[in-house]
Amino acid sequence: MSEPIPVGDYTGLSEAECYPRIEAAKAALGERLVILGHHYQREEVFKFADFSGDSLKLSRQAANSKAEYIVFCGVHFMAEVADILSRDDQVAILPDLAAGCSMADMANLANVERAWRELSGVLDPDQRVTPVTYINSAADLKAFCGRHGGIVCTSSNASRVLEWSFSQRDKVLFFPDQHLGRNTAFTMGIPLEEMVVWDFDQPLGGLTREQIEKAKMILWKGFCSVHQMFQPEHIERFKAKFPEAKIISHPESPFEVCQHSDYVGSTEYIINTIAAAEPGSRWLVGTELNLVNRLHEQFKGEGKSVHFMSPTVCMCSTMFRIDPQHLLWVLENLVAGHVVNQVRVVPAEADEARRSLARMLEVSPP
Ligand code: 13P
Ligand code: SF4
Repeated sequence: MSEPIPVGDYTGLSEAECYPRIEAAKAALGERLVILGHHYQREEVFKFADFSGDSLKLSRQAANSKAEYIVFCGVHFMAEVADILSRDDQVAILPDLAAGCSMADMANLANVERAWRELSGVLDPDQRVTPVTYINSAADLKAFCGRHGGIVCTSSNASRVLEWSFSQRDKVLFFPDQHLGRNTAFTMGIPLEEMVVWDFDQPLGGLTREQIEKAKMILWKGFCSVHQMFQPEHIERFKAKFPEAKIISHPESPFEVCQHSDYVGSTEYIINTIAAAEPGSRWLVGTELNLVNRLHEQFKGEGKSVHFMSPTVCMCSTMFRIDPQHLLWVLENLVAGHVVNQVRVVPAEADEARRSLARMLEVSPP
């Protein structure tokens, strides 16, 4: 059931007032509850997560959880994946249903189906093109991929997924994030000349028939508004000051930023890489601010210095919507036997989406 948080009862609470009540609700629900927290969650919520991770790790966690209630501190597509991969009698909950992903919204079923139809005027897409959706997308797009022999990827398995995709068909339509698609394909040896950008506002994506025939990667014109803030100049300026610094970026960052980075990978990869680094090392990190601040705090005791890549503050404002007040509200409702903010994917769509997610899980590294 979707219902608004009652104004006053919860929204008027301070964070400090929420904390003991969240603990009490967690204790009351015991093993019936699991809280999953994405690395971009603010600290005030993240500290209550039973498990944290990147999108792939949390998908696996949701698939393996036995808890009756899976409360997802993350964004909408993550809670949808939890619902799709969990058992029918489990309930996936997103504390604030307005916590979406602006990148996910850049592709929708209508414009992806239109792209597929338009491609069929040039080639037979069901024979020639594997549709690959980044997990940052709505469930109906995962279902589209399930129907058309396609697959889902995350930032930590994108190259394995592309290898699989090219073993099926000779081209890939990759949506919604052009940067993850381009950065991954380039690392696998596909030159930029064999990649085109599909502008979903233009007929035939703004491309000629010849461009489509020549392309291996057809990249949707989507991006993450947080990661697109990072620029190669930020790296150059930092390196001028600290030549020994290491640069690490999320693959949603622009191509030039990833090319100037020493390491590129998912949020989990970024954490593990810095955790394994030498004491005294210095890091410039191109990913969301809440995670970078956490890394800074976590590793300063080991003498590691962690810096945020952009001079301006860029946070994921939708991740930030999950606050202690919303978390408390959904938990106390569960204690009272009342489910609020359940995320439920309709069964037919969930079945098709599960096919593309299952293909992803099969080809993913352990
Ligand atoms: P990860 O899977 O790397 O955690 O990324 C999720 C995301 O939304 C990054 O913007
Ligand atoms: Fe979406 Fe970007 Fe936020 Fe990730 S950081 S959830 S891609 S808007």
